[in-house]
Amino acid sequence: VSSFQAPRGTFDVLPADAARRAVLEQHAHRILGAAGYRRIETPTFESTQLFSRGVGEATDIVQKEMYTFDDGGGRSLTLRPEGTAPVCRAYLEHGMHKLPQPVKLWYLSSFFRAEAPQRGRYRQFWQVGAEAIGAGGPETDAELILLLADLLEAIGVKETRLRISSLGTAATRAEYRRELAAFLHAREDGLAPEVVARIDLNPMRAFDAGDAITQRTMRDAPTLLDRLASEDAEHFAQVRRMLDDAGLRYELDPTLVRGLDYYARTLFEFTSEDLGAQSGVAGGGRYDGLIEQLGGPATPGCGWAAGVERMLLAAGDLPTPPELVDLFVARAGRALQDGADAFALAANARRAGLSAQLELDGRSLRGQLKHADRIGARYVAIIGDEDTVSLRNMESGDQAETEPAAVIPTILRGSRLA
Ligand code: HAM
Repeated sequence: VSSFQAPRGTFDVLPADAARRAVLEQHAHRILGAAGYRRIETPTFESTQLFSRGVGEATDIVQKEMYTFDDGGGRSLTLRPEGTAPVCRAYLEHGMHKLPQPVKLWYLSSFFRAEAPQRGRYRQFWQVGAEAIGAGGPETDAELILLLADLLEAIGVKETRLRISSLGTAATRAEYRRELAAFLHAREDGLAPEVVARIDLNPMRAFDAGDAITQRTMRDAPTLLDRLASEDAEHFAQVRRMLDDAGLRYELDPTLVRGLDYYARTLFEFTSEDLGAQSGVAGGGRYDGLIEQLGGPATPGCGWAAGVERMLLAAGDLPTPPELVDLFVARAGRALQDGADAFALAANARRAGLSAQLELDGRSLRGQLKHADRIGARYVAIIGDEDTVSLRNMESGDQAETEPAAVIPTILRGSRLA
């Protein structure tokens, strides 16, 4: 037994799980591809500044969760904790503003956050993400939300709940925070002491308080949605109308917050009751100021990311296609010592489009037939001392002596009949 284990918060993707992930990837490819999204892959690590500036210096991600290291030449690099800032960096670096807009990109990549591991929360995890850069209209937001809903449904993620809100602009938010802080200070008697202590740090947290007194006070509190500038309110109203027309159910949640600083206007999150504490399956929003923040021209953007592990946890059974073995080449007699004929038959069968394996472990013929049965082989060809090959149909049990050259055509005919 090896004394090594996968690092805390990481996991191995074993073949059965890899098969479920492949199905998930196919759904993402189909759904996003049909809407014009094309795949992008960015490096696993980036300049640390990309995230401190992009995601936000004050966020938990940047403050506590980044895997940051020196590259040996005095440059600070960080394992990507998320995909939006890297995709925007690539958009700028490759002059994608010259392409037809919006540029629609999707990814399925792994990300790294030094969080306390628990069910559904890992230090290396995968996300499917979609980003539409260069279009500011509400149709983009609504289309992205709908694509995400379609993906979750295709995968069979259960008990989902969609909450949406709008953050307006940074200026509106700053003004609103001042108003909310003043509202709270004027009512400190009606707030829990820990809420009072946090008023100036983050007044929004008061909405999350669990105690009844604070909750009663907060019923009269102004919400950010009430304070949106008219263009922002209109943008949000249009997003909602399109979601309504599409028949998508959602809840308005004016207190919705997400742990990344780049959002402006539309914000959304899918949770699943099946997941327990780590209930966030997917989330995203509009990030119109991000590209500018990274040194580019003012460029609108909107997108989302969905956690692969959380989707799979909440998906239950995700049927995977059976792994077919058309032919197993068994070896008897002198073929046990000299595997050249068996080797050639298996290789030729694969070139003809069949899936074929040959005996590699030196088992007895009985052991080989048992093995062929276990891996679900449809045919077994037994190569021995004769010039002919015994071909056995494992479904019917029929067995016949066959010219070596006839083995592959026989199986191909068989596959067509099946
Ligand atoms: P996020 O909400 O930080 O957003 O992450 C998106 C999803 O990734 C979460 O809903 C969750 O399913 C999954 N996830 C996050 N952290 C972990 C973890 N430690 N272990 C397992 N799964 C995790 C973003 O990353 C934004 N870049 C989304 C976005 C794209 N916004 C605009 N465009």
